[in-house]
Amino acid sequence: MTYSPSYFMKCIGCSREYSPEEIIYTCRICDDVLAVEYNFSEVPRNLEEKWKKRPLSVWKYREILPVTRTEKIVSMGEGGTNLHSCRRLAKTLGLKALHVKNEGENPTGSFKDRGMTVGVTKANELGMQSVACASTGNTSASLAAYAAKAGIKCIVIIPSGKVAFGKLAQAIAHGAQVIQIRGNFDDALRMVRELCTRHPVYLLNSLNPYRLEGQKTIAFEVKDQLDTVPDKVILPVGNAGNISAIWKGFNELKELGMTDTLPQMIGIQAEGAAPIANAVKTGKEIVEPLANPETIATAIRIGAPVNWKKAVKAIKDSGGLAETVSDREIIEAQKLLASQEGIFVEPASAASIAGLKKLVLAGKINPDEKVVCITTGHGLKDPQIVVEKYAKPIEVDAELGVVEQLIGLKPIEAIAMA
Ligand code: F0G
Repeated sequence: MTYSPSYFMKCIGCSREYSPEEIIYTCRICDDVLAVEYNFSEVPRNLEEKWKKRPLSVWKYREILPVTRTEKIVSMGEGGTNLHSCRRLAKTLGLKALHVKNEGENPTGSFKDRGMTVGVTKANELGMQSVACASTGNTSASLAAYAAKAGIKCIVIIPSGKVAFGKLAQAIAHGAQVIQIRGNFDDALRMVRELCTRHPVYLLNSLNPYRLEGQKTIAFEVKDQLDTVPDKVILPVGNAGNISAIWKGFNELKELGMTDTLPQMIGIQAEGAAPIANAVKTGKEIVEPLANPETIATAIRIGAPVNWKKAVKAIKDSGGLAETVSDREIIEAQKLLASQEGIFVEPASAASIAGLKKLVLAGKINPDEKVVCITTGHGLKDPQIVVEKYAKPIEVDAELGVVEQLIGLKPIEAIAMA
């Protein structure tokens, strides 16, 4: 069975079109990245009514996902993450309200699952026997899990020593072939791209436009959960697929007549790995790659983001912004969100909160604006950071008196005597 409408791939540079069955990741003519486009005239008329009857999830929106054979869908219940109303944190930051869309609630603990359910479904449809990705950790964890579910071989190439343990453990546990290279993410991506050109291995980095189609459902869910489109959407940016995907999602809602307004897209990068933010902030049209990116937020430790053109366009067209945050600001934001809202996110995700804080202080976000921060990955992905950067628990002898003294509680007899 096929859902309507029909779809195809299109180069974002020269507009050349490619059939959905082609295994291709960049334009054969100009080497630009591709995007999936739909023939929106074929969309069923009662689409909004249909959607309303379904629970929140990636596949709720299946009519505008690029699936040809529904029996090939590989799903583990991705999407449907909470949009938390964060009243305490809003107050701390000087905002009237704040919503956090916590993507750490996905099956493998990050937003990548939205992309992988669609991407691995596509691999399955195309009859691919192997899939591969380069990763700073989450992509590999997610791909390994979805490939396991589909019974497809999975190869992941990661920068040695720079992937958080939780993520590495996931890729290993799900049975992927994990190869650590003495190089960074950008080197790994270059290698895996070449590997997938030379062999029948399906590339599932965010260069693959089908993956981004799954990720655009973040926009659909935010609109459904808020019952409106927010003023600002803030998220961390690494390889820059997600910001482009979410912007595409909001634009499709507009094209379908489901919203009149669009949000401003705000991309946050870590100071030491900020090729896009630095270009946007200095008004440059071209993003120059950075040779040695460095940040505590290893998920976004990327110097040559492949989707930079899409991301710069999303920021510009939406009238948005880009900002950088220091590693110290990232950890402070992680602490704030965890200790005031009960939401534990990994450092890269906390960059969105750190960026929000900085932009509110700079007067670039007004207190009464509707702001949604996307927290992209679960805090348990990278527990090492907390052990290293937070105050360590105190160790004492197993005596209650000592514990009482430490927490400032007097024994009851002592109170009675007083
Ligand atoms: N947040 C987290 C937790 C991530 O893992 C990533 C990317 C991003 C944000 C940035 O998203 O690349 O779409 O701009 N992680 C990739 C990976 C690169 O390999 O797991 P982006």
